[in-house]
Amino acid sequence: MAAKENIARNTPRRQLRDDAAKGLLRFMTCGSVDDGKSTLLGRLLYDTGALFGDQLAKLQSDSERFGAAENDLDFSLLLDGLEAEREQKITIDVAYRYFATRRRKFIVADAPGHEQYTRNMATAASNVDLAIILVDAEKGLLPQTRRHAYIASLLGVRKMVLAVNKMDRVRYKQSVFEAIRDGFKAFARRLAVDDVKAVPVSALKGDNIMHSSPHMGWYTGPSLLDLLETIPVEQDLDGPMRMPVQRVVRPDQTFRGYAGTIVQGSVRPGDSIVALPSGQTTAISRIVTFDGDLDHAAAGQAVTLVLERETDISRGDVIAAAADAPEEADQFAVHVVWLNEEPLYPGRPYHVKIGNCTLTGQITELKHRIDMNSLDQLAAPHLDINEIGYGTLGLDRAIPFEPYGRCRTLGGFIMIDRFTNATVGCGMIDFALWRATTVPWQYLEINKAARADLNRQKPVVLWFTGLSGAGKSTVANAIAKRLHARGQRTYLLDGDNLRHGLNRDLGFRPEDRVENVRRVGEVAKLFVDAGLIVLASLISPFRSERLMVRDMLEPDEFIEIFVEAPIEECERRDPKGLYARARAGEIRNFTGIDSPYEPPDNPELVLNTVDATPEGLADRVFVLLEHRGVI
Ligand code: ADX
Repeated sequence: MAAKENIARNTPRRQLRDDAAKGLLRFMTCGSVDDGKSTLLGRLLYDTGALFGDQLAKLQSDSERFGAAENDLDFSLLLDGLEAEREQKITIDVAYRYFATRRRKFIVADAPGHEQYTRNMATAASNVDLAIILVDAEKGLLPQTRRHAYIASLLGVRKMVLAVNKMDRVRYKQSVFEAIRDGFKAFARRLAVDDVKAVPVSALKGDNIMHSSPHMGWYTGPSLLDLLETIPVEQDLDGPMRMPVQRVVRPDQTFRGYAGTIVQGSVRPGDSIVALPSGQTTAISRIVTFDGDLDHAAAGQAVTLVLERETDISRGDVIAAAADAPEEADQFAVHVVWLNEEPLYPGRPYHVKIGNCTLTGQITELKHRIDMNSLDQLAAPHLDINEIGYGTLGLDRAIPFEPYGRCRTLGGFIMIDRFTNATVGCGMIDFALWRATTVPWQYLEINKAARADLNRQKPVVLWFTGLSGAGKSTVANAIAKRLHARGQRTYLLDGDNLRHGLNRDLGFRPEDRVENVRRVGEVAKLFVDAGLIVLASLISPFRSERLMVRDMLEPDEFIEIFVEAPIEECERRDPKGLYARARAGEIRNFTGIDSPYEPPDNPELVLNTVDATPEGLADRVFVLLEHRGVI
């Protein structure tokens, strides 16, 4: 995820290498707005001497200005100051702070806690080993607490420290702490978390932050900082070598290398590797860095690998240990965290970025969504923003991968809207489904070209889209008749008619329409393969699915025809009486009334049905078909 790149970019290379030697803990803090997250972070930075003189001076004067007692520092002001600083750099959604003690170095991923919180939390969580779950002792466990812990565990955070904060406000009562601790541990037992430690603190007063608190004699465990310094973090980076290729480096004819960050295992010159997906094997000849060649490189290091033999590798491919290469698949069981206002509909295609590889994919099926409070599995026809679901991810080709639990880089993915390029979701591969390797393509001798030849036509899809009552079926019908009269082989897929059979199970919710169009697209593709001229007449209201059908076919096989009439005109015509019923509230989700229609941006043809006859419009379609050599 982007977070990883941020750390790499913000951390001097030499420092990263030192970190590996000294022991580095990456952690995040999760808390609701008033739980005291800023105070806790500020206190940690202050107590460990991570603040500079000028920051301290400013903190002192700000604290006094905001009414803190003399010599009492208001640490939340410190973080708020940093936050404001960060707000100006709008591209950074997670800030990283560094501090160190004698025993360990720390990177804190600090996700601002406002809107887009899930997105930032997920970004931060994908990159840390431990989460401090902050709970206000007065408020106890909140739904937010469980939600944060669940997201963190889903994104691979295996260690958690429950910090029960504001103990001073509950008179340092042991029973308050214990009730919260027990409640959280019971919840965490159902998450994939190895280790939960709990510590009662007051970030404001400094109790149990750095030193044991004199106010809580009943607590004999370590302070928060002690815990952070001593919790073992196995760098989960052992295992067979994996490096997703970020860039092919080719400054001139004499040099060719593959740059990227090793995400698992280690390499030496001479090691045998395999490049995926090509499957070619060779050996490492050099490991090149800015500081010269290395004789060994390990997970976390950014290097350029030079290979012994010329190998077919491009950006996004994976270089892996030849003896133990990752599996390849195109269908996966996955968790998805949805981050977009517009819901996730199963079947809708998105760009999917996994490692350094971007391809097209869709959540083909949503099995359930998860209630983050109860961890119950609920039915989910779609996913709304901030919901987490479990389902199947289908990609347009097989890729090398690892389950997320084993490798975050090769098992994590983000989903990107194909029109806006916004990141709309992120997900984690659980395991691969059987498809890619066990169902090969069957070679068939009588193929599309042979059938098209026999039919003496070039098979295409004429895809008529537009509002109900715009005249799609009328125009399509007129064209089918004329083609038929000329001896062309056609088939008309009519939305209404298909809904009596193939699509009988679908209604008119957006997710139904996505599936409706997907199925008709697949059928149209088969009929094109059969050598037919296919006319598909469906409202097909979303540009995303129309693009999906276009992508299913060869570039010149999809002809999008926008049958245009203003909604007022469609409503005036109302051939089936449906607009009247929709207005009367008898039909829900009616296109143009309470369900959207997205007109095509760039259709091959626009047919305005307001002042033209079906015959006249059919003429225009014929001109296009002849021009394109279809007939
Ligand atoms: S699509 O949106 O999924 O492409 P499709 O073209 O198959 O729709 O079906 C639309 C037809 O179903 C309309 O022409 C109309 O006859 C009928 N219909 C019934 N209810 C609705 C509705 N809520 N919205 C749109 N069309 C509806």
